[in-house]
Amino acid sequence: MPVTVVDHPLVRHKLGLLRENGISTKDFRELAGEVARLLTYEATKSLKTEKISINGWAGPLEVDRIAGKKITVVPILRAGLGMMDGVLDMIPGAKVSVVGMYRNEETLEPVRYYVKLAKKIHKRRAMILDPMLATGGTLIATINLLKEAGCRHIMGLFLVSAPEGLARLEREHPDVMVYTAAIDDHLNENGYIIPGLGDAGDKIFGTK
Ligand code: URA
Repeated sequence: MPVTVVDHPLVRHKLGLLRENGISTKDFRELAGEVARLLTYEATKSLKTEKISINGWAGPLEVDRIAGKKITVVPILRAGLGMMDGVLDMIPGAKVSVVGMYRNEETLEPVRYYVKLAKKIHKRRAMILDPMLATGGTLIATINLLKEAGCRHIMGLFLVSAPEGLARLEREHPDVMVYTAAIDDHLNENGYIIPGLGDAGDKIFGTK
């Protein structure tokens, strides 16, 4: 499975700020958006371009345009919304497909409670957004859903990933491309990434 750790001084710097205990909601939100932009830059590096003819200020010329499949971003509720604006800053024309899952406390399996996908999603590249790739349960369920809808080109953007979640993704969906700012040490007994960021949803929405 292709995993890219976006190892850039700006990303490392901003991730370090995100890890500070007591970070304000405003700072967390802004930094999450900034890292999302940088991950998008890397994740779109392999998109193909084609030449088109335009009228430039000095006359006709050929310029590059992104070719091929268009993109849909897929924020996983709710924390994925914290990356969405940053990604859309870079890909303003992308359609948004929203996925909401909760965990059934008995089976521990993710259950879909809200799904609104872009039309003809099978013709698009899907870019899943979730700040934390922890156990991978919700992510796998989201990928299953996208594949059921016909998506064949799927990538995931994460601020921080856990080795356990990456290993599960590798077993279940080795074709999915991963872009992450860091791979941390491990998951604790409550499913939090260590050292991680804490509860990314609470930090983005200021609900703690
Ligand atoms: N979700 C979070 O918000 N943080 C973690 O560390 C794991 C899952």
